[in-house]
Amino acid sequence: MNKITIAIDGFSSTGKSTVAKQLANHLGYIYVDSGAMYRAVTWYAMQHHFISNTYFHVQDLIAHLDQIDITFTFNPNLGYAEVYLNGKNVEKQIRTLEVSGFVSQVAEISEVRELLVKQQQKMGESKGIVMDGRDIGTVVFPNAELKIFMTASPETRANRRYQELLSKGEQVSYNKVLHNVQERDYIDSNRKDSPLVKAKDAIEIDNSNLSLEEQFNKILQLVKTKL
Ligand code: CDP
Repeated sequence: MNKITIAIDGFSSTGKSTVAKQLANHLGYIYVDSGAMYRAVTWYAMQHHFISNTYFHVQDLIAHLDQIDITFTFNPNLGYAEVYLNGKNVEKQIRTLEVSGFVSQVAEISEVRELLVKQQQKMGESKGIVMDGRDIGTVVFPNAELKIFMTASPETRANRRYQELLSKGEQVSYNKVLHNVQERDYIDSNRKDSPLVKAKDAIEIDNSNLSLEEQFNKILQLVKTKL
């Protein structure tokens, strides 16, 4: 069967990665979480004291970009690929609210985007890929056969992320999570380089009132029309 490229974009915590993983498993495709790559660069910047609440040494980060190696390794127990930064699994470190608090500032930097987009395009060369992010249908794979744009209300999204962080044992408040979701929406949508916008040919899905199963089936139907 011919393989296609599936691009899933949308605001933070819209459940893009959940449905992307389901699709990839169902279709036998590769799943790539592009946000994890921006998060890994952010974690690197934090570890090297290039970014904190009071400063961001952008030029230092840019000067070190050639020392950042991001790879994915499939974890058969989880059923998806985990992200590695310079050979170390950083899945746990990159998902915290602290990293979420810095990641949109790091993702605004054109040099960072250029580096990661190149790697993402390489991963998609043979198609058979589901990638989620902010600029996948617009910049990374403008020719993707299927483009989905996911939305849900900020409160729905913040609540989902809040529950997710609690279940991982992170002590957070709902209000802080909501604030982070709204702040990232704003920065991601208003940055100069590759802002989050719906591609002209993307299909918008508001999943505020859809169960995971309904959402999956809806998108799978769309995939079938493209195969
Ligand atoms: O999962 P969540 O919705 O929290 O976000 P993510 O997909 O992990 O992405 C984290 C951040 O990385 C976003 O808020 C964007 O600032 C940035 N990002 C981006 O700029 N471009 C992408 N293709 C993916 C993520």
